Amino acid sequence: MQAAFVGAGHVGLSSAAVFADLGNEVFLLDIDKEKIAALKRGKLPIFEPGLEDRFKKNLGKTLLPTADYAEAISFSEIVFICVNTLSKGGKIDFSPVFACAQAVAQNLGGHLTVVVVRSTVWPGTLEEIEKIMRKENPQASFAVLFCPEFLREGSAVEDTLHPNRIVIGGRDKKAVAISRKFFAKTPAPFLVTDFASAELIKYAANSFLATKISFINEFSRIAEKVGADIKDVARGLGLDPRIGKSFLQAGLGFGGSCLPKDLEAIGDLARTYGGSFEILVAVRRVNHRQHQIFIEKIKKALGGLKGKKIAVLGLSFKPGTDDLRKAVALEIIARLRKEGAKVSVYDPVVVGKAKKILKGVRFASDPYAALKGSDCLALVTEWEEFAKLDFKKIKTLMRTPLVADGRNIFDPPKLKRRGFTYVGMGCV
Ligand code: UGA
Repeated sequence: MQAAFVGAGHVGLSSAAVFADLGNEVFLLDIDKEKIAALKRGKLPIFEPGLEDRFKKNLGKTLLPTADYAEAISFSEIVFICVNTLSKGGKIDFSPVFACAQAVAQNLGGHLTVVVVRSTVWPGTLEEIEKIMRKENPQASFAVLFCPEFLREGSAVEDTLHPNRIVIGGRDKKAVAISRKFFAKTPAPFLVTDFASAELIKYAANSFLATKISFINEFSRIAEKVGADIKDVARGLGLDPRIGKSFLQAGLGFGGSCLPKDLEAIGDLARTYGGSFEILVAVRRVNHRQHQIFIEKIKKALGGLKGKKIAVLGLSFKPGTDDLRKAVALEIIARLRKEGAKVSVYDPVVVGKAKKILKGVRFASDPYAALKGSDCLALVTEWEEFAKLDFKKIKTLMRTPLVADGRNIFDPPKLKRRGFTYVGMGCV
């Protein structure tokens, strides 16, 4: 099928590459001309496992980056709106989605076009989008659907190829049939609802995931007090199929561009209707507190932070991505520096972007260089390579052998045997 993805961010870019690879003719549209020029040269703005190969293989054949709305939209049977939303001072702002819908409407061809919104928007927005498009182009033949995106950064390609469900909001039968045909090569349970339900499903999903994380983090504090190991508690809990084992990894909590923003938005939505979302207020508070707890642990173990050298391992908001948006590492580093610590950092993927944001820290080219002469290894993002670190070597490099494990990935007894002081998040 001929399709267009508008917005070359994580969702649009990954989806365009995957669906082009599955045999569709795909336009990838972005208003950022520099980004498009780079994409045409095969230069990707993000890191995502499995993306580059698929992108380069299809580039210029079935995958066509463009900054021209008319070129991308006028012949496409299905158009996906994957542009970002904004969050300003706790207020969610969908104006980029509205602007995009307007531009799509201006460029529709003479045939029926299905316009599928994938950006996360709250109830009422799809109706607004439909109105905007109708006003912009009253004669055009189009139908709007909402298809919430559930892919995770760091596994965007995998999640697009193997979704666990496809939710379609919108009742236009022809449009739903076209969307079903488009997704036929990525089979999954297919749920069709009204707009508002689909809009709420996305927020409910992210809110629930965040709740699971804060739930286990709250328990991790009790686990420490009673001498339990939160990893075993999570294992025992997750074996119950009604609970499930995912999103029960205690530690520094959630960051990224989605969970924090969606929690803010749903709180905002609740206020719009004169209420508040009590559970999510607590979820956010607990998440934030984890950062402070981590800093306090390091401070206590070192007897203060002033003049201490801390090596922070991992910067991205989670492994498998180079995304620094709302990354926990940024806050940890800011707090360490505020308390007078000297910070060195290492991340296997994020370098250039981080150098622009992080001032006053030393960037190391490998973890050992970051750890040389340090008083603490502070593990913030659990990249796979950190689980294989050579602690025998590290012991000879550090000034003080303290390991602060913000994601509980190391083996405490093993480290203690090697002479390290270990502090984890809910394990002793
Ligand atoms: C999240 C959702 O998982 C996706 O389903 C959704 O499509 C996406 O938001 C979105 O709305 O676009 P993402 O933000 O990419 O995806 O990352 P997650 O895998 O959800 O991780 C979020 C944060 O939670 C990370 O900082 C991670 O380190 C943290 N986390 C995750 C934990 O602290 N503990 C866990 O057990 C799991």
